[in-house]
Amino acid sequence: MVTANRSRISTTGSICAGTFEAKRAVDVTRQIRIVWKPVVFLCSLVPLALILTDIYGIGGSLGANPIEEIQDRLGNWGLRFIMIALAVTPIRQLTGRNWIGQFRRMLGLFAFSYVFLHFLSWLILDQEMKWSAIAEDIFERPFITIGFAALLMLLMMAATSTAAARRRLGRTWQKLHNSVYAVAILGVWHYWWQVKKDVSEPLLYAALLSVLLGYRLWYRRRRRLGQRIALES
Ligand code: HEM
Repeated sequence: MVTANRSRISTTGSICAGTFEAKRAVDVTRQIRIVWKPVVFLCSLVPLALILTDIYGIGGSLGANPIEEIQDRLGNWGLRFIMIALAVTPIRQLTGRNWIGQFRRMLGLFAFSYVFLHFLSWLILDQEMKWSAIAEDIFERPFITIGFAALLMLLMMAATSTAAARRRLGRTWQKLHNSVYAVAILGVWHYWWQVKKDVSEPLLYAALLSVLLGYRLWYRRRRRLGQRIALES
């Protein structure tokens, strides 16, 4: 009788704890949606705002070659956001804070937006939409060819980033979105290739990317090993 009562009490206790955890998860999600997502969104717009204020001469200036400066700053921010988006999963896994994953889509879309603006600045300001010169650059300058390939992959990921597309594509979705690694490699390569003398910045990106990719490989191997041990035992 006493044992039965104890087990009823412990079941009630675990139901209460479960309900508390579920409520806490809902609260965290709501707080992220209402407070933190708008904060991250506004912070992500700061580099663009600084470029715009420099264009209008409100803040600093764009230097002697404004078109190149705009293009470079947008390209750099595109690459930074690709790295930040790639860092989300390792940070989430290492800290155990799953809510961090809720920012990944937004950061990925910012990566795409900055790269797309970088492309548009090249298309409109640099090439002045002269289509034959554009085609020639894309096909004959290898660093532009790989940048363009990376842009097409990002476009494909941005177009399928919605929850509905994820549901519709099923397992193909993950395969498609794994192209982010290829995009990052092509992005760093594209940067490295067009640098004339000082490779310190592309080298820094390459080092960061190696750490991020190395972590993924290590994590996948560790998980596979865990699964094998679980199957064997
Ligand atoms: C994922 C795609 C891309 C990334 C991450 C990226 C990133 C970058 C970065 C970081 C730079 C160097 C900026 C600096 O010197 O500080 C750069 C330069 C450049 N990118 Fe891209 N880019 C991408 C795609 C493209 C595409 C699609 C085009 C055009 C078709 C393009 C055209 C250029 C050009 C012309 C430069 C040299 C600008 C200059 O003269 O300094 N990029 N890009």
